[in-house]
Amino acid sequence: MIETRALVLDNLPLTEDIFKLHLLVPEIAAGVRGGQFVHLEVPGFSLRRPFTVADADEQSITLVIRRLGAGTAALAGIERGSSLAILGPLGRGFTPEKGRPLLLGGGIGAAALTLLARQLGECTFVMGGPNARELWLETLALPPGVGVGWATEDGSRGFAGNLVQYAAANLVPGLWVAACGPEPMLSGLQALLRERGLAGQFALEARMACGLGACNGCVVPTRQGNARVCRDGPVFAAQEVVFP
Ligand SMILES: Cc1cc2nc3c(=O)[nH]c(=O)nc-3n(C[C@H](O)[C@H](O)[C@H](O)COP(=O)(O)OP(=O)(O)OC[C@H]3O[C@@H](n4cnc5c(N)ncnc54)[C@H](O)[C@@H]3O)c2cc1C
Ligand code: FES
Repeated sequence: MIETRALVLDNLPLTEDIFKLHLLVPEIAAGVRGGQFVHLEVPGFSLRRPFTVADADEQSITLVIRRLGAGTAALAGIERGSSLAILGPLGRGFTPEKGRPLLLGGGIGAAALTLLARQLGECTFVMGGPNARELWLETLALPPGVGVGWATEDGSRGFAGNLVQYAAANLVPGLWVAACGPEPMLSGLQALLRERGLAGQFALEARMACGLGACNGCVVPTRQGNARVCRDGPVFAAQEVVFP
């Protein structure tokens, strides 16, 4: 884990609410695994914000960020050439298991899976959202071995339905599933994976303060007891997670 400064190379809008920050930060880019995150300074705010590394090469990382509150709104306006304090790579990333990988990303949750897709090289990656306008995955250049699919609730692109409905229709023996998205999606997927005897891993989100395992601000219940999303996760075995 390294604390350093990142130079903003680019800040591009992908949809109305989602933007892509490209940061020059070789010290972090070199060793990051799919599913790991960084803790990024937001100018004018005392607390850093956590974001998954959505893509990386030897020199730089890409973050895909949804504008949610004041901090992400400030980052949406950050200019090329700015410098931001950054800590990373943090947390435990995905550890792919036996089976053909199926990646399921709900909305901004797809950002937690894109570096995994690049590192796997060959996989199926389905992004879900309410409609075609919210789908941004094709704006990242994924390797040719990544087969991209879509699921939209209004049926405007790809499978008509949400990702749990997609999974109910498509989870077959021999798959290994990696997923990130809203809690009802992950809870529905957990039940389907259990029913069909398939293994998988989920990347979770929680509100964070320190990002380092010191404050217990990000604790979630698991079958092994309480776990810190920042240090013990954010990636957990699918059946470990306890949903309320
Ligand atoms: C490990 C990890 C990886 C993440 N990766 C990404 C990513 O790649 N892209 C991305 O857009 N976002 C990601 N997030 C979420 C991101 O950190 C928050 O959206 C951001 O910190 C919100 O900051 P803000 O100042 O805009 O909102 P705030 O003003 O802090 O909050 C606005 C509202 O959102 C709620 N909220 C804030 N953070 C969270 C959260 N983590 N979970 C649930 N509700 C929250 C608050 O309670 C409040 O109601 C990640 C979070 C974690 C823990
Ligand atoms: S944010 Fe402090 S322990 Fe996780």
